[in-house]
Amino acid sequence: MAVTYELLKECPETGARAGILHTPHGQIETPIFMPVGTLATVKTMDPRDLKEIGSQIILSNTYHLYLRPGHELVKEAGGLHSFMNWDRPILTDSGGFQVFSLGDLRKITEEGVQFKSHIDGSKHLFTPERVMEIQNALGSDIIMAFDECTPYPATHEYAKQSLERTTRWLKRCKEAHKNTEKQALFGIIQGGMYLDLRTQSAEEILALDLPGYAVGGLSVGEPKDEMYKVLEHTVPMMPKNKPRYLMGVGSDDALLEGVYRGIDMFDCVLPTRIARNGTAMTSHGRVVVRNASYSKDFTSLDHNCDCYVCKNYTRAYLRHLIKCNEILGFKLISYHNLYYLLNLMRNVRQSILDGTFAQFYKENINKINEGMG
Ligand code: GUN
Ligand code: ZN
Repeated sequence: MAVTYELLKECPETGARAGILHTPHGQIETPIFMPVGTLATVKTMDPRDLKEIGSQIILSNTYHLYLRPGHELVKEAGGLHSFMNWDRPILTDSGGFQVFSLGDLRKITEEGVQFKSHIDGSKHLFTPERVMEIQNALGSDIIMAFDECTPYPATHEYAKQSLERTTRWLKRCKEAHKNTEKQALFGIIQGGMYLDLRTQSAEEILALDLPGYAVGGLSVGEPKDEMYKVLEHTVPMMPKNKPRYLMGVGSDDALLEGVYRGIDMFDCVLPTRIARNGTAMTSHGRVVVRNASYSKDFTSLDHNCDCYVCKNYTRAYLRHLIKCNEILGFKLISYHNLYYLLNLMRNVRQSILDGTFAQFYKENINKINEGMG
């Protein structure tokens, strides 16, 4: 199998666990946060930067790479790793999320999703078979099933139809995916906010015996309590000997809450997206560097952070860069934000291994929630 999960330690008081994911491009220590490199680049961060902050795996997107530069070109370059000069593991999302968020530009049928490119309006069809072919060409270590990320809110009837189609599509994905020795196909559990439908989806998806599973359809606009309820219901049904991935979640509080409930992998554009409008994630909450109050603040972004940016630059300087739209400003804050989340996850993992996660969670969730208040 291309990817196997080794469980190292479970927290006796919570659902948290520490493990190792073995992949063709090396090991990943879990729980882990995956920086997002939609277009074969984590915006502003080159692979040297990513390694410096300890990124073990990055995520990229089928939909975007298919449109530009095209999966055939990436294949010709020797695959995504070689094309973008990243020799560690890569996970690609299937386009099931991007294509569905195109709104008027797409049409769903049993066969797949017809859509118009957001770039030039050209027409395309994504089917489970096509999406497997594209991800096989990209050569990522982990490939995601073609699913529908059920919108929020959705009726019970719609969420049921949707999850059942996602199951049928997963069977077609599994059938079409030939490169199982080099690439691991993960299934995605849907079902909206309905717990009975989460049970149904989990039963159908888990029956396909895949190397890993994701919980999808969360962080789509629902209150956080709803997301945690769905996780508390769904994660215990997932097998202990396989990785569990919560898609599209990347705020510091949600990472802690996810790990608490047994999640191993997370991804989100949040840290890099908010960096580009001048917002830093810190141990004492969000810092909006643009604010006038920082114009003469000659202290570091986060006094608890020992990253390159916090060791060398002041808030006043970062504010100046952001105010002037200087590229270095976007880069330095992206660097810090990713470091902050990766470092949080390293500390989370160590606390699980040390048997002190419950304590770690209590101390840090309070700090984070106070910082937000
Ligand atoms: N990213 C965030 N949520 C989802 C989801 O439900 N499905 C997919 N494919 N990607 C996601
Ligand atoms: Zn920092």
